[in-house]
Amino acid sequence: MIEFIDVYKIYENGTKALKGINLKIDEGEFVFVRGASGAGKSTLVKLLLHEEKPSAGEVIVNGYYVSKMTRQEVPYLRRTMGVVFQDFRLIPNMTAFENVAFAMRATGARRRDIRRRVPYVLGLVGLAGKARSHPSQLSGGEQQRVSLARALVNNPSIIVADEPTGNIDPNLTFEVMEMLDEINRRGTTIVMVTHDTTIVERYAYHRIVTIDGGEIAEDLPGSNV
Ligand SMILES: Nc1ncnc2c1ncn2[C@@H]1O[C@H](COP(=O)(O)OP(=O)(O)OP(=O)(O)O)[C@@H](O)[C@H]1O
Ligand SMILES: [Mg+2]
Repeated sequence: MIEFIDVYKIYENGTKALKGINLKIDEGEFVFVRGASGAGKSTLVKLLLHEEKPSAGEVIVNGYYVSKMTRQEVPYLRRTMGVVFQDFRLIPNMTAFENVAFAMRATGARRRDIRRRVPYVLGLVGLAGKARSHPSQLSGGEQQRVSLARALVNNPSIIVADEPTGNIDPNLTFEVMEMLDEINRRGTTIVMVTHDTTIVERYAYHRIVTIDGGEIAEDLPGSNV
């Protein structure tokens, strides 16, 4: 569960990026966050991941209160979340398998579990046959699916995706979206930032939160509940 209570974010240079955000996202929801460039979408994501702290207000994610958290606790919170970025952020000299395994190893997983789990998640994203490929040998859509597999490997309850389709070919966008939809159907909460009106219109059965000038301008409930 995610909750923002009266959240403000003012950056050190004085930019007011968020101005009183109240937002509650239940387990299993799929929420689009949209808004113009500079509206505050990525700031919201950074607060979710506890990469930034709010200037005022409270952010609660999976029972962790940002105001009460110590720095040592942040990795535990992060483990409950999978993150997908616009630019994939795969490690170029590692294969698809190794990129995903790396995220699992970071949590102290055992080799035996890694050998079993990584092929399974690569299979989930339809890349069973590409485990040995390096990112440069994969299409944009495939690279984004590796990064999805990496986000999924530690079995997070929430996936946070900031413009996951922003850097891929429009005709590959759909495959990544279908993947996210499927992951959501299996029960994972998804928070997805996007500019892409075509996507939002096509998947308008999900909740759509619009941010404007650091405030929530609109919150359209999904219709698939
Ligand atoms: N580290 C920072 N320091 C100062 N100002 C920042 C910082 N990060 C973002 N901002 C400012 O905060 C506001 C919101 O930025 P944010 O990145 O959240 O927007 P966004 O909605 O994600 O935009 P985009 O669609 O372009 O990614 C902008 O005015 C931006 O310039
Ligand atoms: Mg952004």
